[in-house]
Amino acid sequence: SVELNPALLPLDWLLGTWESDEPGEGCFPTIKPFRYTETLNFSHVGQPVINFMFNAFHAETKKPLHRECGFIRMQPGTNRVAFIIAQNSGSLVEIEEGELTAQQLNLHSQSLARTSFAREPYVQQISRVFQLRPDGRLEQTVSMATDNQALMQHLHITYRRSS
Ligand code: HEM
Repeated sequence: SVELNPALLPLDWLLGTWESDEPGEGCFPTIKPFRYTETLNFSHVGQPVINFMFNAFHAETKKPLHRECGFIRMQPGTNRVAFIIAQNSGSLVEIEEGELTAQQLNLHSQSLARTSFAREPYVQQISRVFQLRPDGRLEQTVSMATDNQALMQHLHITYRRSS
């Protein structure tokens, strides 16, 4: 296997595959609450970039639902982190940036774009927190703002490392 680029050492705790240990919870004022499972994969090929894929499924029917993939970079010499993300739903692409403190990442969208024929309501902001908990689980919380709603939680889920 390729050696990890030293620029990524502060994020080495993310690398590998993570499976939701129990269904995650989705909510928003305008939708029916739902439950989902999700697999995350973070990998590298020796470049100062982490490649990632998130695949979410309906908790009961197991049908594929949401997908995201992208790249993570760190600004050299700082704790500033950038996520470059493409999402299947909402025909959305985004840049999120934020700070790494210990084993927690706090990110906020810096720019969002979508196809000309994306469905409304449009997402206007996204915030997320990744945290490696003391029990070894990874936790992700996502909030969003849309045309109709101020920034509010959409997702909460915890994962167990599977490889
Ligand atoms: C609904 C955005 C991740 C499942 C929505 C809506 C938006 C949205 C804008 C419509 C809200 C409204 O009608 O007012 C996002 C964004 C995500 C994300 C920006 C990631 C950053 C996920 C994930 C799942 C999911 C991981 C997991 C399965 C759903 C479901 C609904 C929904 C089931 C309600 C039904 C529907 O409108 O399709 N999401 N979502 N979302 N989202 Fe997400």
